[in-house]
Amino acid sequence: MSTSAESTPAMGTGKCPVDMMDPALLSDPFQGYSRIRDQHRVVGARLFGIEQPVQLVTGYDDVRAVLSDPRFANDPAAVSGTEGETFRRDAAAQRGLSEEYAPYFLETILDADGDEHTRLRKLVSRTFTVRRVNDLRPRVEQITEKLLDDLPRHAEDGTVDLIEHFAYPLPITVICELVGVAEEDRPRWRDWGSRLFSFAPGAFGSAIAEMVDHIHEMVRERRAAPADDLLTGLIRAHDEDGDRLSDQELVTMVLTLVLAGHETTAHLIGNGTFALLTHPDQLARLRAEPGLAPRAVHELMRWCGPVQATRMRYPTEDVTIGDTTIPRGAPVMAVLVSANYDPREFGEPERLDITREPAGRRETHVGFGHGPHYCMGAALARQEGEVAFTALLRRYPDLALAIDPADAERQPLPGSWRLTRLPVRL
Ligand code: HEM
Repeated sequence: MSTSAESTPAMGTGKCPVDMMDPALLSDPFQGYSRIRDQHRVVGARLFGIEQPVQLVTGYDDVRAVLSDPRFANDPAAVSGTEGETFRRDAAAQRGLSEEYAPYFLETILDADGDEHTRLRKLVSRTFTVRRVNDLRPRVEQITEKLLDDLPRHAEDGTVDLIEHFAYPLPITVICELVGVAEEDRPRWRDWGSRLFSFAPGAFGSAIAEMVDHIHEMVRERRAAPADDLLTGLIRAHDEDGDRLSDQELVTMVLTLVLAGHETTAHLIGNGTFALLTHPDQLARLRAEPGLAPRAVHELMRWCGPVQATRMRYPTEDVTIGDTTIPRGAPVMAVLVSANYDPREFGEPERLDITREPAGRRETHVGFGHGPHYCMGAALARQEGEVAFTALLRRYPDLALAIDPADAERQPLPGSWRLTRLPVRL
C-alpha cells in the first residue's frame, strides 16, 4: 500500500529466496509481494511449520490460471507422498483440536476437489443464493445500526475501537442471522467468534469443539422443526439424485461459513475504514456520493483486501510456469495481493480510487479467489462492507483516526492483513 515503508523483503538465492515472516513483507505485503512479483513469476518461500519450500505464484494471469487449473489439487491426499497432510494435521493439533473434532476443520469444502467439491458446492449453492443474501440486507442494516447505537467510548479519551466493537461483532451476528441461530444463543456465538481468532492457548480448539456440539444440536432441532433459514435449507438440500449432506458434512459446512466469513469480513471493514480515513479525498467522494459504495468496496477489496494468499494447492503432476517447473506435490500458494497490484492488469495499482472502473470481468480483482473455490460468501461480504461503510459515514460526519496512521498495529501473520485495533473519534 502506498503508506508503506520502503524496505525491501530479504531476497537471497537458493531454494527459498523469500521468507514469509520477513518483517518487511509482514508490514507491507502489498508493496513487498509486488516487488517480488516484478522479479519472479514463481518463487520458493519459507513458511514456518512446513519443511518444504512453498512455491509462490505472484502475477495476476498466473494466479488466475493456477486457481482454475484442475492439476492443482486442494486436498494434499490427492498427491501421495507430500507433507501437506501432515502439515495440516499438525496445524490442527497445534491449535488444540482433538482427533474427534479435527475432521470438522480438515474435511471442508475448501479441502475437496473434483466431483466431491462440485457435489458440496452444488448442495450449498441451492440454498446460499443471491436472493437469500439480498433478502438479508434489511437485517444487516438493522444489526449495523444497533452496533453503532451501542458503541462504547473509552472512559478516558472517548475513543472507540472499531475492530473490537464494530468490525468483529458485525459479521458473526450476520452469520448467526443467516444460519438461523436463536437470539438467546448469539452471545455464545460472538464469544466463540472472538475466541477463534484470539490466539490465546487452547482458545481455538475449545471454541471449535463447543460450536460443533452446538451446531449438531441445532441440526437435530431443525430436523424436528424446520424454519426459514440456511440451516433448514442445507438440511433439505439435495440434488437431482436425492443426494444429501450427512450430519457431519452439515455441521462442517456451517462451521466453514463461520471460519471463512467472520474474520475476513471483519478485516475488510477494518482495513477499508482505515484506508478511507487515511485518504480524505476518497472519503469525501464517498460521503458526497453514497451510491459509489459498491464500487468502493470493490476497490477496497483490491487495494487492502484481508486475504494475502490462498491456501495451499498441490500439483498432481509437474507444471511449468514461465521458466520454473513446479514439481508434482510441491505446496503452492497463489499470492492475491501481488496479483491485485499487477500493473499489467490495473493502471496505477498503488492508487486507491473508489471510482475505478472494473475491467469488465466478473470480479476483476482476485481478493475473493478465483476458479472453482471462488468465495461462496463474496456477495454477502460485499453487502456487509457496503452497509458498514455507508452507515459509518452517514452517522459520523467527523469520523477520524485517533492514532497516527504510522502507529497502526497489525497482526504479524503471513496469510492475512489485519489491524489489531482501530481507535477512532466519532
Ligand atoms: C473461499 C476470501 C467472506 C465463505 C474463499 C477464498 C477466498 C475468500 C480468497 C478462496 C480460497 C482458496 O481458493 O484457497 C474471502 C474474503 C471475505 C470472505 C476476503 C470477506 C471480505 C466470506 C463469507 C463467507 C465465505 C462472508 C460465508 C459466510 C467462503 C467459502 C469458501 C470461501 C464457503 C470456500 C469455497 C469453496 O471451496 O468452494 N473466500 N471470503 N467467505 N469463502 Fe470467502
